[in-house]
Amino acid sequence: SAAEKGGHEYFMLKEIEEQPDALANSLRGHFAGGRIVLDEQRISDQDLRDIDKVFVVACGSAYHSGLVAKYAIEHWCRLPVEVELASEFRYRDPVLDRDTLVVAVSQSGETMDTLEAVRHAREQRARVLAVCNTNGAQIPRESDAVLYTHAGPEIGVASTKAFLAQIAANYLVGLALAQARGTKYPDEVGREFADLEAMPKAVEQVLTTVDQVRDLGARLADSKAVLFLGRHVGYPVALEGALKLKELAYMHAEGFAAGELKHGPIALIEKDLPVVVVMPSPRGRAVLHAKLVSNISEIQARGARTIVIAEEGDETVRPFADELIEVPAVPTLLQPLVSTVPLQVLAAEIARTRGYDVDKPRNLAKSVTVE
Ligand code: G6P
Repeated sequence: SAAEKGGHEYFMLKEIEEQPDALANSLRGHFAGGRIVLDEQRISDQDLRDIDKVFVVACGSAYHSGLVAKYAIEHWCRLPVEVELASEFRYRDPVLDRDTLVVAVSQSGETMDTLEAVRHAREQRARVLAVCNTNGAQIPRESDAVLYTHAGPEIGVASTKAFLAQIAANYLVGLALAQARGTKYPDEVGREFADLEAMPKAVEQVLTTVDQVRDLGARLADSKAVLFLGRHVGYPVALEGALKLKELAYMHAEGFAAGELKHGPIALIEKDLPVVVVMPSPRGRAVLHAKLVSNISEIQARGARTIVIAEEGDETVRPFADELIEVPAVPTLLQPLVSTVPLQVLAAEIARTRGYDVDKPRNLAKSVTVE
């Protein structure tokens, strides 16, 4: 009913608007006594200190949350992090031992590909930490440590609030590792946590762009394809934006690392093709920002339609943006938590305009319990 959907036409929009709460609830209680705390930890602190490699294994949007986390965990922990599609992981011969931490990210905690990756990792004596949105699901039950996200139940098949909560939880895992390994001082861990705690408000602010983005979505509904470009943490955001559009609007969409543009994707650019660009902060990542401005000007010169997600007050990008969607200024590593939101709305609204069921896209299941 409309009441269940909080007055919205579809659950996904309600869930998009619940993202500030999903984040706040997922952070609550995880910094206590000056330390990051997980929900369950059957790995000793000594064993955590000895970890020398991290794998993140997941599927779909959860996999994209892992790609985001790689930037933070490598930076904070000075540990190599590999992010693997769970379905590929165990059919290779991944190099695992007792000093490997495998982080299994799953909203449902029942995804068979991810569960089998967990089983394979444990057989190789790796330590497994689950990030999961469902209490007592199979993946956390079979793991050595658990951090639950508290996004609440997600009805829309395409993940939104669970995805943002996964990013926050993966960051807590990174901070827990940094604290165990001593690669960050306790006060630095506390400051990172405080930055995370400011994010629900920032996401609240992005939600004021929902009407602008819905209007844009309605205008883009006849497009044949949409490209998404980003760099650094904006790259996984571009992948997630493209996935949402495929899932919901059945439209060809692809995310690219913007630096690869000249190595291939630029051949796809043609008149009127919508290209969504996720800009880094002009202050936080000035060099990357300049490179992306140059990418956008090349795209625009070829007649494509540029849709730019940029930090508020970023004037340099304005002349190159056919459509500008502003997001609040936040620390670089936290940008995905704001820049993903307009892409979720965009996909949902393109799908709705095309007459599709936003909450139940064809051929997809909320949780895939077969391999
Ligand atoms: C399905 C859903 C996706 C989800 C993926 C992983 O494909 O349609 O939205 O991201 O499974 O699900 P999980 O429950 O493991 O996070």
